Amino acid sequence: MDDTPFRVTVLPQGWTFDAAPDQTLLLAGLAAGIRLPHSCRNGTCRACMTQMQAGEVHYRIEWPGLSLEEKQDGWILPCVAQPRCNITLQAPAATPIVNAPRPAVLHAPRPPDPMATDRDDDVRIST
Ligand code: FES
Repeated sequence: MDDTPFRVTVLPQGWTFDAAPDQTLLLAGLAAGIRLPHSCRNGTCRACMTQMQAGEVHYRIEWPGLSLEEKQDGWILPCVAQPRCNITLQAPAATPIVNAPRPAVLHAPRPPDPMATDRDDDVRIST
């Protein structure tokens, strides 16, 4: 499989990050300094359920916790979803991670100061 990354755009913030085809959207976002809501990270709790406005994903597990109707309506589970093309997510609850590189921004203002928001102690990015 070609490992060229795809571009993921997070709306309404306008943040972008790259995700390789074998990388979940959740982990790629965390690596780029963007925390999407999540809990179990294995496709069962649905805490990460996010509306995908454009794109296509492949699930790294056989039975992600979504109904057929939810999938048809564009809902995905980023913790187990891997990109198959460029992706656009509607994720208003996404936040920047303290001490991580800021995400790339295309035609949008930078995210708010992370010092004033919540902390994500389980991920640290060193530069
Ligand atoms: S974090 Fe639990 S289903 Fe994604």
